[in-house]
Amino acid sequence: MNVGILTGGGDCPGLNAVIRAVVRRATENGHTIIGFRDGWKGLMEDQTQMLDVEACRGILIRGGTILGTTRYQPYAFEDGVEACRRTYEQHNLSALIAVGGDGTLAVANRMVKEGFAIVGVPKTIDNDIKGTERTFGFDTAVQTATEAIDRLHSTAESHDRVMVVEVMGRHVGHIAAWAGIAGGASAILVPEEPFDIREICRIITRKHFEGRFATIVVVAEGASPIPGTMDVPEPEYNEFGQIKHGGVAYDVAKELERGTGFETRVTVLGHIQRGGTPTATDRVLSTRFGVAAMDAVIDQDFGAMVALQSDRIVRKRLSDCVGELKVVENDLLRVARVFTS
Ligand code: F6P
Repeated sequence: MNVGILTGGGDCPGLNAVIRAVVRRATENGHTIIGFRDGWKGLMEDQTQMLDVEACRGILIRGGTILGTTRYQPYAFEDGVEACRRTYEQHNLSALIAVGGDGTLAVANRMVKEGFAIVGVPKTIDNDIKGTERTFGFDTAVQTATEAIDRLHSTAESHDRVMVVEVMGRHVGHIAAWAGIAGGASAILVPEEPFDIREICRIITRKHFEGRFATIVVVAEGASPIPGTMDVPEPEYNEFGQIKHGGVAYDVAKELERGTGFETRVTVLGHIQRGGTPTATDRVLSTRFGVAAMDAVIDQDFGAMVALQSDRIVRKRLSDCVGELKVVENDLLRVARVFTS
């Protein structure tokens, strides 16, 4: 059979490992994999890339996606879904594997209801997809952020400064919580809990007078203050109507410097967290997801999303996993609080 594959949304380390695993599993069963370029855009516009074992050689360790990706959604176009259907039929596809975050998988779920045979693979450095305990890309992002925090520690200590480190996480703070705990942060600000800047100033001042130097504050890009406690600029939006994050660390740093009197510096890690080679953990998870996705196609289990649960790969229904994000668990926030209060 002919099976399509696309990668949508923001890229993340491990996408190529998924593509490679899908191709290998398909090939051993005599199936053909057709890659669609740039997410749903490739399906709408019939932009393809043939994928065979040779084309996938050497990509396991490469970050990004050899298929390219965009945030295009067929439902945003009048003829979008019909255009996808035309391409789907023209290539005589028996199934499509959609690898993406909440946006891509929500589209996949709608299209399943319209008769497309789709299996979903959850990806995002944000680790915010419901139904799976982990998404690939997250481990690499946490590793990168933790290494950055470790480096900032020594320069912060030399100058007795406060370092504010901004990490990705628009709606959830998994990266901030994990990297903050791993890096020994004095404060971790996540979107799940609006922060009180005055309280953070008090904590930093107290820690400082107890002899603690090298204060690291980790802030997720989507974290926000308790309303009325701090000035924040009006948000900007991207072409898809999503808030363009990046920069809250500067607002936090200004307030911290004003409130504590300590010199404060900002590091915004941005897309560095999304680039580069995946960690071994992410390569293995991506590979397991890729094989499992092709297994689901062979079983004709359409509408399924592969997921990690208790270290086993399972299948969930896409409809149960989209539309609501997985937030940081209270247990982890409680652990973080032991070191940040
Ligand atoms: O969805 C993953 C993510 O990396 C978010 O953490 C971040 O807010 C967003 O993508 C950035 O998107 P873009 O690359 O389009 O600026």
